[in-house]
Amino acid sequence: MAVCSIIGYKGNSYAAPLLVESLKKMEYRGYDSVGIATIENGNILVKKGVGKVAQVSKTLDLQNMPGQIGIGHTRWATHGGITDTNAHPHEGCSSEIAVVHNGIVENYKELKKDLIASGHSFKSETDSEVIAHLLEEEYSQLHDKVQAIVQVCNKLDGAYAFVAVFGDSTICGSRYDEPLIIGLPDNGYFISSDVLGFLQYTDKAIFLDNKDIVVITGENLSLYDSSGKAVSRSITQVAWELGAADKGIYAHHTLKEIHEQKKTVLKGMIQNEEDLTRFCDILLNAKSIYITGSGTSYHCALLAKHIFAKLAKVRVEPVISSEFQYVLDFIDKDSVILAISQSGETADVLNSVKHAKELGAKILSIVNISTSSLARISDSFLTVNCGPEIGVAATKSFTGQLAVFYTVIDKLCNSAIGINSKRQAIESAIELLLSTEEQTIRIADLLKDIRDIYILGKSLHFPIALEGALKIKELTYIHAEGIAAGEIKHGPLALIDNNSIVIVINPRDNTYDDVLSNAHEIKSRGATLIGISNQSEEVYDHFIKLPNFDSILYPLVEIIPLQLLAYHLALKKNADPDYPRNLAKSVTVK
Ligand code: F6R
Repeated sequence: MAVCSIIGYKGNSYAAPLLVESLKKMEYRGYDSVGIATIENGNILVKKGVGKVAQVSKTLDLQNMPGQIGIGHTRWATHGGITDTNAHPHEGCSSEIAVVHNGIVENYKELKKDLIASGHSFKSETDSEVIAHLLEEEYSQLHDKVQAIVQVCNKLDGAYAFVAVFGDSTICGSRYDEPLIIGLPDNGYFISSDVLGFLQYTDKAIFLDNKDIVVITGENLSLYDSSGKAVSRSITQVAWELGAADKGIYAHHTLKEIHEQKKTVLKGMIQNEEDLTRFCDILLNAKSIYITGSGTSYHCALLAKHIFAKLAKVRVEPVISSEFQYVLDFIDKDSVILAISQSGETADVLNSVKHAKELGAKILSIVNISTSSLARISDSFLTVNCGPEIGVAATKSFTGQLAVFYTVIDKLCNSAIGINSKRQAIESAIELLLSTEEQTIRIADLLKDIRDIYILGKSLHFPIALEGALKIKELTYIHAEGIAAGEIKHGPLALIDNNSIVIVINPRDNTYDDVLSNAHEIKSRGATLIGISNQSEEVYDHFIKLPNFDSILYPLVEIIPLQLLAYHLALKKNADPDYPRNLAKSVTVK
């Protein structure tokens, strides 16, 4: 049922407070309702309700639920409205099984019909509830939990990760194309959608393969493959520092992550030489290169196209991941698909690369989470290494991805950019742009009641216009549109009047004069102009100064004032910048 977070715990401590803390850490994944089931003396106790973790936890006193075994869930609705009943966990008829689920059961209607015909009655409108009833049905016939899960998984269509508890204190789960990771603290186990669910307790993890089954009975953890045969999986040490997911001195994760860019951009430039060589060799041997990603990551793909063309003289084709299936006719064994994704779990991205892989293409990826599904199915991958990004809006991962691209280009083109010798200049430029925050607060004040904002950029600056507009849309709910500056006269100029606000990204490079003319055309129709440039012009009503910089590197820094503006506009509009309405951080459903 959705882009959700799931967590299970069994161990020597009380489960409920641990589960609540874990859910808070993963709330960015989905956040319209919350629920927990714990077991005490053979009884499953379920509490769930609509709202964010802190609020529901307080109202329902989740923290004080009894028992040392339990499961928890935050939901982002896809099937069934946002109601207490549709929140997870879901129970079977007998209340001896409770289940939390992430994903979509595509054939839930047929399964539900069959289960109702066999006497099951359903409480919610969700697809997820069928898993609880199916498991109950299979277990009542087979009396073997592993075999029951094998049968359940065989019947589910679509991607899933689920964790179930039985009244006899067994906890178990399985996954297919949705993440499920086991955390191994002393004296217990976690089963989680994300390492952030247990990273404060342990950095030891087992990443389950697709269709693996985990069963924890007593103090023992056992793993099985999709046929129910026992398997073993290696233990990975997770690298992120504890505490990296906290807000620190900042009011919101988003603001912290914007400020972290001073460091994270530099981290993106540090790549293991062997990995980089392998990655670049695959690119060099490609007959055709497609770059794919969703949302912000797609904007990075658009920038990569310009950077590859300008410096490597290589043609790469950016394709939005959700559109990728329509270019499959052109993909063959000589193609390379370079996928960009912060999470490495975005369903549209994973589907694209899976289709391409089936056609024989090589898969490269740039990911922030090196243990993600995308990294694991890639022939070679590079990491952004910017630490956990909790704010739903991508900020530091975007500039981090870009930093990786500059590094790749330097490797391919004999240090054409010389990125490593420019680290200091980049750091100072980012610092300078971060210091425009006060200015962006004043501009946010002027824009807070505006209905539409247009952002113009040309060439390298057009993807930044798109990305700036995306940040404003998702954080502030104001309609914002990124426009290729030269296109203004082909239609959008008709929208411009005395009330229009237009942001013009125009640092001095080969696009400067053309974009300045566009700015004048807009100004003469009465609009208010905000210029982002290293050169001030009379045409701008407000001006954010960029440093003098290598023109190819401008995208890395010119996005920062737009991120800050979106953040402060969100505050002025009383919107929560960390958790925009209707959105989830990792969109693991189609
Ligand atoms: C926008 C945003 C989304 C993501 C998109 C892809 O701020 O965060 O548009 O960029 O959902 O996510 P990843 O990069 O995890 O594949």
